[in-house]
Amino acid sequence: GAKIEVTDYAFSFEGPFGQFDQMQLQRGLQVYTEICAACHGLQYLSFRNLSDAGGPDLPEDQMRAYAEFYEVFDQALFDGEGDFRPATPADKFPMSNLSNAPDLTLMAKARAGFSGPYGTGLAQLFRGMGGAEYIASLMTGYVEEPECALEGEPMDGYYNIAFAAGGFPDSCKYPNGDHKVPGSWIAMAPPLYGDDVFYEDGSATDLVAVSKDVAAFLMWTAEPKMMARQQAGLTGVIFLTLLSVLLYLTNKRLWAPYK
Ligand code: HEM
Repeated sequence: GAKIEVTDYAFSFEGPFGQFDQMQLQRGLQVYTEICAACHGLQYLSFRNLSDAGGPDLPEDQMRAYAEFYEVFDQALFDGEGDFRPATPADKFPMSNLSNAPDLTLMAKARAGFSGPYGTGLAQLFRGMGGAEYIASLMTGYVEEPECALEGEPMDGYYNIAFAAGGFPDSCKYPNGDHKVPGSWIAMAPPLYGDDVFYEDGSATDLVAVSKDVAAFLMWTAEPKMMARQQAGLTGVIFLTLLSVLLYLTNKRLWAPYK
């Protein structure tokens, strides 16, 4: 089968105590807006969520101003004929502009970079499923002169060592079908090269930094309640630990006369 190469980038939200980095999510939103939105959509995300605590936490007025940049078609306007109007916080982001570019709202949960559904589950607990790592690795995974091109010409588009689902020449497979090198051909041109954006907060804009920022943002769009979920889980663990101790002591006390 296909294999891919995913780098285990470190993210602030990994591990049982991890948290989204609000500034990183804001930078990722900027990268998404300036670059990815040309082709991709975020159709399950509402503009108002950009102000969520635990998320990008944009100030209310900034979030409203951001929404107003977008036009939505409103069927109710003009006596049911419909017309365009500026988006409000309750509206959703637009769908993909390009028919073959997938919606990115849930992509970070749809792909796993590593720590798949096997083993004890501890790897997932401490390192996550790798969805954000996958997206960052996809951004950094382009190869200009791949070993596995068709003779003299590219297959279709661009070669990416993190992409599994694309075309792959038979001449580069073992007899059992396994790929000799990681990756495959992808229809998306490299969207990032480094220094693609200007950050107000002075953060690094090299390729890896910008890729991680947009990947973190897309992890948040896919799992906006991650912080709340982790907190609830931790509360549960503490509670159950305490309960176990109390039950143990109660048990000892109840049976003490008979021992
Ligand atoms: C696919 C991310 C910019 C066109 C994808 C996928 C991701 C992604 C995660 C899915 C890969 C998979 O199926 O595993 C991004 C990000 C961008 C960006 C984070 C901005 C930094 C763009 C732009 C275009 C584009 C600007 C158009 C010029 C596509 C297309 C695909 C795709 C056509 C489908 C590729 C295929 O299935 O072969 N992108 N993208 N993307 N993207 Fe982008």
